[in-house]
Amino acid sequence: MTLPAVVAAGQTVCVTGAGGFIASWLVKLLLQKGYTVRGTVRNPDDPKNAHLKELDGAEEKLRLYGADLLDFESLKAAIIGCDGVFHTASPVTDDPEKVEETIIGTKNVIMAAAEAKVRRIVFTSSIGTVYMNPNRSPDMIVDESCWSDLDFCKNTKNWYCYAKTVAEQTAWAMAAEKGVDLVVLNPALVLGPLLQATINASVAHIMKYLTGAVKTYVNAFQGYVHVKDVAKAHVLLYETPAFGRYICVETMLHRQELVEILAKFFPEYPIPTKCSDQVNPRKKPYKYSVKKLEELGVEFIPVKQCIYETVKSLQEKGHLPLPTHS
Ligand SMILES: NC(=O)c1ccc[n+]([C@@H]2O[C@H](COP(=O)([O-])OP(=O)(O)OC[C@H]3O[C@@H](n4cnc5c(N)ncnc54)[C@H](OP(=O)(O)O)[C@@H]3O)[C@@H](O)[C@H]2O)c1
Repeated sequence: MTLPAVVAAGQTVCVTGAGGFIASWLVKLLLQKGYTVRGTVRNPDDPKNAHLKELDGAEEKLRLYGADLLDFESLKAAIIGCDGVFHTASPVTDDPEKVEETIIGTKNVIMAAAEAKVRRIVFTSSIGTVYMNPNRSPDMIVDESCWSDLDFCKNTKNWYCYAKTVAEQTAWAMAAEKGVDLVVLNPALVLGPLLQATINASVAHIMKYLTGAVKTYVNAFQGYVHVKDVAKAHVLLYETPAFGRYICVETMLHRQELVEILAKFFPEYPIPTKCSDQVNPRKKPYKYSVKKLEELGVEFIPVKQCIYETVKSLQEKGHLPLPTHS
């Protein structure tokens, strides 16, 4: 059972990194549901956050706070007085220099939320904290009990997965120590329409196949999920008696399947047709379970729709030239 609208309307929640791709949809949904929202952004006056001020209900119920993940006091000012916190802010990059920021930022948010005695923290982790383990049997179903292997992440220079894994483990340890109620969402690669004006890393994953920037596709699988489902899942994790971690993925596609879907919908773009790996057999996907999230009531938007809407949005926002028909 989810919180009735009347209860939501009385609650104040903080969303960190509110101007980001996922957080913008989350803020939109929270406002729709009647929450009062405090969104942290690095600079509330930066034009890149203008889209937030235009959301329905923003004028009355959204306040932006200037906060940096490395500045505890700035986070505390936004979180004090809140009923709940959605911690989505994080560098999304494989730059090793950003590892500390991801981990310290998470510590700071948990600490501030503990001091504010919030009802619950919903932390946006990643599937990257779950599946990166070469020692797992290929037949094993990846579920919420799985953790990525830190040495493997390091050795493969997957600094994003490394940072998110340490950040999530730190969040669990701190929440236990401070007696804070923590629930974690572990989404796969998130796609869908953009609310913000800039292109974030997961949407860039699609963009590169449409611009001619890459000439081949890799021999690899990737899980995908729609940003609206990710926003919904965050709210469900806050409103229901959820617990622990929740894997959030609609489907896995080999990159060949992804480029074929793109080429079918958008044949006008220079989409690669060849795999960069002409030697090894086609990689196989790992098996995974989203039973836990489905039991909370999430129904996933199909990946084809998700891909289509991403490209349409990139066109509408002027990031991709519209196809010219002769
Ligand atoms: N998109 C995906 O495929 C995906 C999948 C799984 C998990 N996630 C997780 O979902 C969350 C949101 O990701 P997203 O895809 O929405 O990426 P995004 O659009 O890049 O959003 C990340 C946000 O974090 C903010 N941020 C980064 N470093 C910060 C700092 N030091 N202080 C304050 N704010 C900071 C960014 O602000 P600036 O714009 O100022 O840098 C941005 O608003 C992240 O935790 C990410 O790990 C994303």
